[in-house]
Amino acid sequence: MPGLRNFSIIAHIDHGKSTLADRFLQLTGLVDDRTFHDQFLDSMDIERERGITIKAQAVRIYYHAEDGQEYQFNLIDTPGHVDFTYEVSRALAACEGVLLVVDATQGVEAQTLANLYLALEQDLEVIPVINKIDLPAADPERVREQIGRELGLDPEGALLVSAKDGTGVPALFEAIVARIPPPAGDSGAPLAVLVFDAHYDSFRGAIMSVRVVDGVLRPGQAMQFVASGRQCRVEEVGVFQPGRVPRPQLAAGEVGYVVSGLKTVADVAIGDTLTDPARPVARALPGFRALKPVVFSSVYPVASEDYPALVEALEKYKLNDAALDYERDASAALGQGFRCGFLGLLHLEVFEERMDREYDQALVLTAPSVQYRVEMNDGSTLVLDNPHRWPDESRIARVLEPFIRAQLLFPERYTGIVTRLCLERRGVDQAFAWPSPGRVELAVDLPLAEVVYDFYDRLKTITQGYGSFDYEFLDWRPSPVVKLDILVNGERVDALSLIVHEDRARARALQMCERLEEEIPRHQFKIAIQGAVGGRIVARTTVNALRKDVTAKCYGGDITRKRKLLDRQARGKKRMKMVGEVHIPQHAYVAVLKSDTD
Ligand code: GTP
Repeated sequence: MPGLRNFSIIAHIDHGKSTLADRFLQLTGLVDDRTFHDQFLDSMDIERERGITIKAQAVRIYYHAEDGQEYQFNLIDTPGHVDFTYEVSRALAACEGVLLVVDATQGVEAQTLANLYLALEQDLEVIPVINKIDLPAADPERVREQIGRELGLDPEGALLVSAKDGTGVPALFEAIVARIPPPAGDSGAPLAVLVFDAHYDSFRGAIMSVRVVDGVLRPGQAMQFVASGRQCRVEEVGVFQPGRVPRPQLAAGEVGYVVSGLKTVADVAIGDTLTDPARPVARALPGFRALKPVVFSSVYPVASEDYPALVEALEKYKLNDAALDYERDASAALGQGFRCGFLGLLHLEVFEERMDREYDQALVLTAPSVQYRVEMNDGSTLVLDNPHRWPDESRIARVLEPFIRAQLLFPERYTGIVTRLCLERRGVDQAFAWPSPGRVELAVDLPLAEVVYDFYDRLKTITQGYGSFDYEFLDWRPSPVVKLDILVNGERVDALSLIVHEDRARARALQMCERLEEEIPRHQFKIAIQGAVGGRIVARTTVNALRKDVTAKCYGGDITRKRKLLDRQARGKKRMKMVGEVHIPQHAYVAVLKSDTD
């Protein structure tokens, strides 16, 4: 396959990956100027609005090189956020080379390093690309020197590009032809196909993005997943240009798509190997791993009568997002719902937004939680993420929580404030390094629970956008975490329970109680709102009683007016949930739960 080049673009967020991909499509004439719009490959609204890539995409483009030959480029666009590192690694496994895009005004950032390591693990050819050279603040020579020193790559091999105006892109095309090796692979060998992504199409079911490593894939052929054992048949193969274009076959080395009649993307494990059951490969392709959720939250419809619609929406959503895990959950306060597992907080936010926009589902999400290991006095261990299932304190020997090793990169002037943020978040074993003058690299061990909420946003804010962050799972460590309950007139409101570090319990409880106090309307009697850990009350507020009866103003004997008022009150109550004698309006839950993640 001498005329073939498979490569990916990797970059830190906002360094210009999607813009560069846009230029590739335009300059090779795949998309004409009329149909073109920015971030062409980011097809979801949220992707375009937030300027992030969530799903990997593979497009085939043809390039007439200076040597007179036509080359087939398979460009694989990958997500750039820490939540999606595994997907990136699988997309990279489909390539022989990567373009490592570094912003000429920002220089090398943590995610650049993390992605570079992923590429080097796969033994890929790396072409450094210094982007945004059109900007006045660009300092390409400083970045070039940094690429040599910090990344250990040949600085002279870095290309200067402006993805925005196209400067340097033709030279980059030539570098791809000259420097990225064509795929090896044997079309006569047993079929081995890497599945690196899947998306859902309402007519065709799961559409898999694949790289044929060995063998040839043709319609009609039987296939089997090596890891799951599931069998299916090839209905159609083809390539994205950028819409689906069917082909008679995909041979060794080629990247394209397969339609196989599998209904949902949950039937497809990303990273799994497809082979021919009649002549299987000896070994699965390396690197497969089942996706594991990290952050959990319970999801309820804002109005409980919308539950059937939520069930339907979740089923549809799941067709397109294999990483989402869910199971039934119920709360006395919020009714029927689901416990969902997410890859990270960004994944959770994307879920919430898509459910709202695409499926018209307004949701109440409980406070996000990580998974804990609870060692019991009787020697057993529970793995728990749901406060509902938290055992009684007296039965717990100790609790272990997941720790991560975080890598933070930021300009030196923010050292104090970043250190403080890490300490606030219970960071330990901080280690500093100075990879280049004026820049600090901080390695720190942090509890995952402290990172999943808003750590990344906080870091971005306090470093005015210059700080970057990446993490990997480290180990489980004993930790004094407790279950915090909120009681309304002595009754526990289960939807508001959460697992929290002992030192934070009081402050968190007070914050929640105060919020509830604002939201619960006055009743005929006094309402006590309390935060409790185990049997201990750690915070308390009160909603005072109404002084007047609502019907008091109906003097005289006009019974119809009186009835009207009572009726209206009854209708209002329907939209509230009862906790003991107290009516708590739905918006109160939303307000309290939202203020948690603020
Ligand atoms: P993720 O998809 O989040 O990983 O981001 P990305 O790396 O794809 O970044 P994207 O292409 O969305 O670019 C981020 C911002 O930088 C956008 O506002 C682009 O318009 C801008 N940008 C990208 N390349 C250039 C360039 O060469 N010059 C200038 N001036 N701006 C650029």
